[in-house]
Amino acid sequence: MRVVSVVGARPQFIKAASVCRALRERHEEILVHSGQHYDYGMSDVFFEQLGIPAPDYNLAVGSGGHGRQTGEMLGLLEDLLIERKPDVVLVYGDTNTTLAAGLAAAKLGIPVAHVEAGLRSFNRSMPEEINRVLVDHISALLLCPTTAGVDNLRAEGITEGVSLVGDVMLDTARFFGESVDAAPVLGRYGVEPDGYFFATVHRAGNSDDPEKLSAIVDAFRTLDRPVVWAIHPRTRKNLQTSGLDAVVEASDSIIAIEPVPYIDTVALLRSASALLTDSGGMQKEAYFFGVPCVTLRDETEWVETVELGWNTLAGADTDRIVAAATTRVRPDARPSVYGDGHAAEAIVEVLERFHGGT
Ligand code: UD1
Repeated sequence: MRVVSVVGARPQFIKAASVCRALRERHEEILVHSGQHYDYGMSDVFFEQLGIPAPDYNLAVGSGGHGRQTGEMLGLLEDLLIERKPDVVLVYGDTNTTLAAGLAAAKLGIPVAHVEAGLRSFNRSMPEEINRVLVDHISALLLCPTTAGVDNLRAEGITEGVSLVGDVMLDTARFFGESVDAAPVLGRYGVEPDGYFFATVHRAGNSDDPEKLSAIVDAFRTLDRPVVWAIHPRTRKNLQTSGLDAVVEASDSIIAIEPVPYIDTVALLRSASALLTDSGGMQKEAYFFGVPCVTLRDETEWVETVELGWNTLAGADTDRIVAAATTRVRPDARPSVYGDGHAAEAIVEVLERFHGGT
């Protein structure tokens, strides 16, 4: 079986790390990097640390408006797929890269397999929600990480080609995360285990809105222990244009750092008192490692984390963020709602059954 896998943004590298390994044991994989994320710290370092094979193609689309970014990828991917004639195109998650690859393949009649299918925030103002809804509706294989994903698809009338495979981010967390030595990383930032919060912010809804960003910064500087904040390039730019960068710099409690590689992220996450984030994937990673999460949004696709008490939705509201971070509930139970850490193998088996075992 020949599979073209398309990745382009940081969370996709983390997911592909496990799937590439399982897929290449028995099949031909052509790996395409769209170039949506291009900085060393947002891209190359993940390939290096997670042992992801070098991409066969890099489309180098870079930044741009949604239409331009997605459109450029679409044209380039169409040419590539016509030339390489894969049996399946594998796409991940909810980014513009996912949409472009899904659309290019589906229009050429090439089956699309969607890893992380069925997730919904039910908030159509998020570009990611548009991407994931559209891709699910043009996918032949819908590889769901959770039962909530399967249920969401059923509610939209999608029942064929749906498989519950578990979450590939758990595979990666198990493979690389368990053995991480946190001490040197914590030492670098001068923090102690359970003596700080770890934070990330990059959603357009927060980062591009100066009022919301300001409310989040206010929460971070009010908390009772330091906040190690790995600042995404989008957010760094917006802090600068809104003048909030001066507030961050003046704060004694915010430790502003560059985006960190996967191993450092795990180190900082595992030892944190709580995670403060608007990332999708990191809400789950906090759950994998038993760290309370405060989500800086009003809804989540990872509803299990909230239902099980490990995650609190606090929006971009200073008081709610501070209250949730101060309480930081750690329930007794942490059931395996994301599978058994072998989602990648399950995905390969689904692809093989679909393709007839070759
Ligand atoms: C994208 C995805 C989001 C995913 C996130 C992970 C979409 C719509 N959003 O959001 O689902 O959770 O990646 O980080 O696809 N930039 C750099 N260097 C980089 C990458 C980006 O400076 O390596 C800057 C660019 O100037 C760009 C901005 O960050 O304008 C946003 O990048 P983009 O890839 O459009 O979206 P993200 O916010 O990263």
